[in-house]
Amino acid sequence: MKKIVISTGGGDAPGLNAVIYAVVMASESRGWEVYGSKGGYKGLLDLDELVRLTPDKVEDITAIGGTILGSTNKGNPFEMPVENFAGEIQMRDVSDRIVKNFTRMGFYCHIAVGGDGSLDIGRKFFEEKGMPVIGVPKTIDNDLYATQLTFGFDTAVSTATEALDKLHSTAKSHDRVMVVEVMGRDSGWIALNSGISGGADVILIPEIPFDMEYVCEKIADNDLHGKHYAIVVVAEGATAKDAEIICKDGSCEVGRQEVLLGGIGDWVASQIRTRTEKDTRSLVLGHLQRGGSPTTFDRLLALRFGAAAVRMAEAGLFGHMVSLINGEMQKVTLEEATKKRKTVDVSDDKVLTAREIGICFGDDNT
Ligand code: F6P
Repeated sequence: MKKIVISTGGGDAPGLNAVIYAVVMASESRGWEVYGSKGGYKGLLDLDELVRLTPDKVEDITAIGGTILGSTNKGNPFEMPVENFAGEIQMRDVSDRIVKNFTRMGFYCHIAVGGDGSLDIGRKFFEEKGMPVIGVPKTIDNDLYATQLTFGFDTAVSTATEALDKLHSTAKSHDRVMVVEVMGRDSGWIALNSGISGGADVILIPEIPFDMEYVCEKIADNDLHGKHYAIVVVAEGATAKDAEIICKDGSCEVGRQEVLLGGIGDWVASQIRTRTEKDTRSLVLGHLQRGGSPTTFDRLLALRFGAAAVRMAEAGLFGHMVSLINGEMQKVTLEEATKKRKTVDVSDDKVLTAREIGICFGDDNT
């Protein structure tokens, strides 16, 4: 009988519960026990935060968004913010305590479900501490390089597309420009996929630094051809040519590995208002993109990832991440998986499609 532990780390994504469900059920069928570490690594740090996951505990969770285990993007055990007696926050390496608890509990393997940050922590545990880790790729941003897709992305794109669909009628009624800021960090996948599907006029992504002249030209061209409204989709990590990325105030939260992006939508809207004198509004879709029930596609992908992770554990393929390659469940090393991020290739067929159907990227290639 083997005992395994599963954790969910980083920003949540629809489909996390489906992975947990598959891991529990696939383990149960092998006669293994599954434990869940709450709040990322918290359960391995403090055993009171460790829960036994049996089939009855995960019944009906596949369709529910979020994660029953909770998650955090401020819980890197190699650099954990800890309050000292004086009430000051200090960064401590608590990884050895985690390894000790892992051994004490007699765990055979740790299934780490996460994005690049959490998987890199998993890689460090495997390479530096000898912990048998298997990764499962999660993120709405779809920016993990070694897998064709991550679960959570399809749901986020569907949410963003639905929002764009709804904006058309109000934008048209008021002859307005609507600027919509979507998530995605340094990758433009959510903006690109939702922008094309949701009938955007302009899509601004981090991979193509934009020029407001071209954006406004497109809006003026719309007007000229009798379309007096426009939908502009901006990825939170998009930047104007030679400009810096825009971050939220207080974006460097203690323990967080990444700065919080946000604000480019407002900036683009104010530029459009000034330059075109068109009535312009902006909105930030924000965490709506991370919430709700996973789409059928994400559920299935997450269930497949979870079951494949257990098969990999059975085969002793530690230090690997399950990956979707050519539509099939494959494995890649955690080292490979965390080496670099997947960004939009500007010669991708989707970018070409967008250009061919008249969408502007704010560059001179339109
Ligand atoms: O990585 C997922 C993500 O939703 C990004 O798209 C976004 O920049 C970030 O997380 C937001 O993080 P938080 O939940 O801490 O606001």
